Amino acid sequence: MTDGYREQVSRNQLRFATIAQAYAGGQARRLDVELLAEMIRPLAFERALDVATGTAAAAAVAAKVGVRAKIVGIDSSVQMLQQARANDGVSGVQLVVGLVEELPFADDTFDLVMCTRALHHVRRPDIVVAEMARVVRPGGHVIIADNVTGLSGAAHARFEELQRLRDPGHACTLTERQLIDLLLDNSLDIVEGHRTTSFRPLDEWLDDGGAGPDEAAEIRRQLLALGQIDDNGTFGTSVATEAGEVTGLRQAMSWIKTQRTRI
Ligand SMILES: C[S@@+](CC[C@H](N)C(=O)[O-])C[C@H]1O[C@@H](n2cnc3c(N)ncnc32)[C@H](O)[C@@H]1O
Repeated sequence: MTDGYREQVSRNQLRFATIAQAYAGGQARRLDVELLAEMIRPLAFERALDVATGTAAAAAVAAKVGVRAKIVGIDSSVQMLQQARANDGVSGVQLVVGLVEELPFADDTFDLVMCTRALHHVRRPDIVVAEMARVVRPGGHVIIADNVTGLSGAAHARFEELQRLRDPGHACTLTERQLIDLLLDNSLDIVEGHRTTSFRPLDEWLDDGGAGPDEAAEIRRQLLALGQIDDNGTFGTSVATEAGEVTGLRQAMSWIKTQRTRI
């Protein structure tokens, strides 16, 4: 791991240490648990892994659906895992401190491996997806749900900069196509996909990111310009405006279920 990479990991650790409690009471509750439950219910899983589990929002869904299953959650933030501990729904979940780029599990260990809302925090999502594919057994399932972008080129680069200004732990937003290609490159065949869009009021989004007043003012100003940019109809997060003001973001998420069918 290079020094630059370690810095990114440290930025995330620092940031999630600071916001762990607020995350547990806010963002964690915004996970679409019904959709995730629908996606995993038909799968007969005995061992499941939640990658970058945070406060264990997705692990709790797996624990509820797979009552007798052994669920493991891994995350680099001790503080996020401490918040997970406070969640009654995950009392039986094993929580492990570790990096998602170096999953401390043997090949073919899990029937189900999930990662929700976390891939955009890592600099090398390709390494994380490869690790997820390595630890799922042949025939097992990998589910990724993450924010996706419809922007490209300079507009994409500018939006990414704003995301990092708002939240220094932000690393990269993929397009849905890039996410699908990462999965296919790792012998994970797509078996189900969903798209969700949720409106995030601007103040709430800025507060969740922890942006200070100066950063917030700059982000507001630049978002207005980005709101005019055409994404050519590609599914992705967009800026919502009303009467020349930015009101929030329409946050786009892709939910992709795959199966490791090839060995
Ligand atoms: C936005 S939270 C998502 C948590 C959870 N999956 C959810 O849907 O609520 C992102 C999580 O990724 C974790 N994380 C970021 N980079 C990581 C890394 N390199 N290794 C392990 N965890 C990481 C953070 O600590 C944080 O808990």
